[in-house]
Amino acid sequence: MLMINLTEGQPPEPSAVPIGARSSPIQLDSLSRDILALKQEIKAVILAHNYQVPEIQDVADYVGDSLGLSRQAARTDASVIVFCGVHFMAETAKILNPDKLVLLPELEAGCSLEESCPAERLAAFQAAHPNSYTIAYINCSAEVKALSDVICTSGNAVKIVKAAPPDANLLFVPDENLGAWVMEQTGRHMTLWQGCCYVHVEFAHAALSRLRRQHPGAPVVAHPECTKAVRLLADEVCSTEKMIDYCRQSPARTIIIATEPGIIHRLKKTCPDKQFIPAPTDHCHCSECRFMKMNTLEKLYDCMRRLAPRIKLSEDVMMRARRPIERSVEISARP
Ligand code: 13P
Ligand code: SF4
Repeated sequence: MLMINLTEGQPPEPSAVPIGARSSPIQLDSLSRDILALKQEIKAVILAHNYQVPEIQDVADYVGDSLGLSRQAARTDASVIVFCGVHFMAETAKILNPDKLVLLPELEAGCSLEESCPAERLAAFQAAHPNSYTIAYINCSAEVKALSDVICTSGNAVKIVKAAPPDANLLFVPDENLGAWVMEQTGRHMTLWQGCCYVHVEFAHAALSRLRRQHPGAPVVAHPECTKAVRLLADEVCSTEKMIDYCRQSPARTIIIATEPGIIHRLKKTCPDKQFIPAPTDHCHCSECRFMKMNTLEKLYDCMRRLAPRIKLSEDVMMRARRPIERSVEISARP
């Protein structure tokens, strides 16, 4: 029997959360079976982002995009949340569940967007532009969230910007590509922070055009973190979760996917009769997010056994960051 030291709350019964990935039977290896047994023992829920390695997706209770993961984190009644994603996502789960243990298999799993917007620089910008209404993409630190008026994800960004006060000077941080796409969709002008996802800006217009010519009937689905040149080639621009819906509903048999290729595991499970082609990058094979891929099945097992690494945040930051996140969840629930 495992000895558990739950210093941040006692575990009640395990939560019943939807299983996003399991639409076909899965053959689990022994490590995966150990993880599932340990999950029962520590009464945990495993949340995984769509870019996680297939083995992790297959043991998760819920697999989804940032918006879906935040919703799951907000509604779970498990005392231990094992977050298989990157640091800012696990922080969001902790902010929404200050009394729960939130574990991240690899604490170093960061994000280039988060790095591009240090809280001190944002605070300095806000001091120089005191009337700014700050909309922060969820890919940022808890400290940046605490400085923001509202948080958005790629799944609800258009709705959040449409709901912003009509006369406000909007500042959008930290992704200039997502921000530019939202401006196109809403017609609202925003000042854009100069940050980008180092993965999505590698998808190349020329190589994608060539691929389209090779597969004339295949629609292109792109994440809004891609550059405008790539978005212009896309039939659909959307969050990773909406990509799953789009591909499920599309009559096309072959679909080109311009986002991190980890999602293709879930796409193949959801639509086994369709072919998914990862969009190309010009100079490198760098469409895999090195941060997302830092989590492994071994690290997942180890972190559940040791109940570490844990996400730790100050009460003050959590309190200030919770408001803009809850505002986001509330706005995106509106009809
Ligand atoms: P989604 O919320 O669309 O899954 O995007 C998260 C992300 O990090 C994209 O790079
Ligand atoms: Fe961050 Fe880009 Fe990785 Fe998403 S894919 S976690 S935006 S670095």
